[in-house]
Amino acid sequence: MKRNQAFRIHAYGGPDALRRDDVPEPEVAAGQLLVEVKAAGINGLDAKIREGLLRGAFPLPLPATLGVELAGVVSRVGEGVTGFKVGDRVMGPLAGLGAYANFVAVNAANLALTPEGLDDVAAAALPVASLAAWQSLRAAGELTPGQKVLIHGAAGGVGGFAVQFAKAEGATVWATASATSRDHVLKLGADVVIDRNAQRFESLAEGIDLVLDLVGGDVLDRSWQVLAPGGAIVSAVDLGISAKTPVGRKGIAFATRPDAARLRLAAEAVVSGKLRSTIAEVVGFDQIPAAVERVRIGHAPGKIVADFTR
Ligand SMILES: NC(=O)c1ccc[n+]([C@@H]2O[C@H](COP(=O)([O-])OP(=O)(O)OC[C@H]3O[C@@H](n4cnc5c(N)ncnc54)[C@H](OP(=O)(O)O)[C@@H]3O)[C@@H](O)[C@H]2O)c1
Repeated sequence: MKRNQAFRIHAYGGPDALRRDDVPEPEVAAGQLLVEVKAAGINGLDAKIREGLLRGAFPLPLPATLGVELAGVVSRVGEGVTGFKVGDRVMGPLAGLGAYANFVAVNAANLALTPEGLDDVAAAALPVASLAAWQSLRAAGELTPGQKVLIHGAAGGVGGFAVQFAKAEGATVWATASATSRDHVLKLGADVVIDRNAQRFESLAEGIDLVLDLVGGDVLDRSWQVLAPGGAIVSAVDLGISAKTPVGRKGIAFATRPDAARLRLAAEAVVSGKLRSTIAEVVGFDQIPAAVERVRIGHAPGKIVADFTR
């Protein structure tokens, strides 16, 4: 097997905590595939894990390889796995950690075959963002045409897909974004884009059936007042939303689940041009720690993806 290198944390901390190490070949358990990673999406979750912000909810044995989604090639098939063979191109969320390594063992059920016409960088941009968008929009119940949806963080990886999915369901889509991301979010189909720095969304939006919170903090706190009676806030950021949900309101904490069939549909929609996937930046394997920090601080619209072949 080729050399296996990984970006791992040995202790929680800032950007320097993520270090490149030689690591052993992963064990491949029954039901798993060994994947040679070709590209990995960078996520906001990475810096939260690196800094130890989630250690209460998800204690982590250290050292730990970061990275939650990938595209790559099957290099070994574990016992009991059907539907995949060595050499297949695959993509998916890990539902765990380890994508910032040359090789990782992944539950086969999490992975979809990468369609022809989608390269590995494009494939690695999809799993978490497209599944999070699709699932979070439905976490409070099915969307119905004519509903008003407000998406905070609409310029980001998740938000970009959420705007398109909500629009495709016939919703009226309100979005918050910075002024520089405005045109991008409008092109994705938003009906109204509120400048998050210059305007107070709560003085413009009202009667919102669903708020999708991809930002948290005071943006979540200020969102209760824009809800229609019976409306809901789904937060992908604040796991403690239930405790702060006012009486008579609906607040739902959301966590993405693997869904290989849905991921494959999203990938096919990207290939056919029905769904736009925006890649803000492609970096090399060496640049993963800096890219993780850039996602934390703020970046151009869309996803940052690490291309391991660079
Ligand atoms: N629970 C889950 O399963 C799950 C899954 C995926 C992601 N997440 C979380 O969801 C969040 C978004 O993820 P992502 O991958 O889309 O991140 P991202 O690509 O970094 O996008 C976040 C976007 O939010 C915008 N933003 C920042 N502050 C804002 C504010 N105050 N109001 C409105 N927009 C603001 C930024 O764009 P502008 O500067 O242009 O406005 C940025 O593009 C992250 O915190 C991530 O950890 C959770």
